[in-house]
Amino acid sequence: MSLRLLENASLAGLNTFGVAARARRLVTLEDERDLPQALAALAGGPRLVLGAGSNVLFAGDFDGTILLMRTRGRRVLTGTHDTHDPTLARIALAAGESWDGAVAWALEQGLAGLENLAMIPGTCGAAAIQNIGAYGVELCERFDSLRAVDTDSGEVREFTRQDCRFGYRDSLFKQTQGRHWLILELRLRVGPGHRPVLHYGELASAIAADGGPAGEPAAARIAAAVRAIRSRKLPDPAVLGNAGSFFKNPVVSAEVARNLLAREPAMPAHPVNESATKERRAPSVPDSSTTAARSPAAREADMKLSAGWLIERCGWKGYRQGDAGVHAAHALVLVNHGQASGREIAALAERIRHSVHERYGVWLEPEPSIIGGS
Ligand code: FAD
Ligand code: EPU
Repeated sequence: MSLRLLENASLAGLNTFGVAARARRLVTLEDERDLPQALAALAGGPRLVLGAGSNVLFAGDFDGTILLMRTRGRRVLTGTHDTHDPTLARIALAAGESWDGAVAWALEQGLAGLENLAMIPGTCGAAAIQNIGAYGVELCERFDSLRAVDTDSGEVREFTRQDCRFGYRDSLFKQTQGRHWLILELRLRVGPGHRPVLHYGELASAIAADGGPAGEPAAARIAAAVRAIRSRKLPDPAVLGNAGSFFKNPVVSAEVARNLLAREPAMPAHPVNESATKERRAPSVPDSSTTAARSPAAREADMKLSAGWLIERCGWKGYRQGDAGVHAAHALVLVNHGQASGREIAALAERIRHSVHERYGVWLEPEPSIIGGS
């Protein structure tokens, strides 16, 4: 029995913003055999699953039960679990495993495919929920299947890639109809069958400049380049509280992008990559300037804008009020300089959203889950 229960628990050390908040009850699950007791503890009141807390903002206390996922286990699946592709193996990762630890472990096994996603904080369960992405790769492109339990009924189910309805930083599990699923195990397809993905300009330049041998770079070399870029650009949450990009890059119609580009010719805008994240189409921003409001038949290719650029142009980069601020080196990253409350960071985010909308007519959508404090 390894289920741990704590009443009136502090959440300050359990979120990478480092904001102070409390939960009425905190249940830590380390062993899946304790799942029935964990589900019983969650029953009949507000509940929340927490991984490493690197994509949440506690804007207030949580008057309910939090389930902290700390299950462990990494396996290469063999035999009947064969992928039918001899160049790829399937790996299974417990939901509470560290994502970056899993990337390093896969590389040690000689299994390529996750290197572009190196150094993303968080757990393996949440990686699927968020469909994490970086430097040209999204998790859904390496996805095999996952196992989850319905926290209402206790039913355990397998999900295929199609079932998960992945989108840009999105999946079924972020939608109202999918929020009752608790991810238990993530399975990925990895191996030498994955060729290097180097189309992200900054990564290609880093590889070209790293002094390595000519020819196709090994996966470990790509991971090292990604780590170097990330260390340069993003603040370390252990030093400066943050949750990575605070907003998603907005996806707008070609027409909206054209009009903005007429005003701002230097604005970064890219056609949306159709291959990776088009399993769910509609973004959830309730605004007529986004693709959500238009019929698929009438569409030209959508354009992804750079939220960091829009925020910087509105004058927010390096802004600070009290201890809540916008990172001086990357305008998309909101930071806690020390004692900021979640409410203060959420209020700053709202001011930024309104100013970008006022100037450019585009509503930014927060990427982290904002909990409490309504
Ligand atoms: P949490 O923050 O604990 O939870 C996130 C959400 O998932 C919550 O809604 C929670 O309820 C839910 N959840 C968590 N685990 C489960 C589960 N097992 N079952 C059901 N629901 C669950 N993201 C990217 O995509 N790309 C990046 O490049 C990137 N860079 C980052 C850099 C920094 C410095 C930081 C701080 C964050 C970055 N992120 C990035 C965001 C973050 O790392 C990812 O979203 C990550 O997957 C969150 O994992 P977590 O375990 O911390 O999730
Ligand atoms: N930019 C500015 N000012 C800034 C920051 C960025 O003008 O202060 C502009 C620049 O033109 C830059 C462009 O924005 O070239 C893009 O910036 P960057 O390469 O840093 O990428 P991003 O769009 O800000 C996205 C993801 C990151 C991911 C990187 C690399 C989102 C919301 N963010 O950031 O993911 O690591 O690309 O692939 O999609 C996260 O989700 O938390 C995250 C960090």
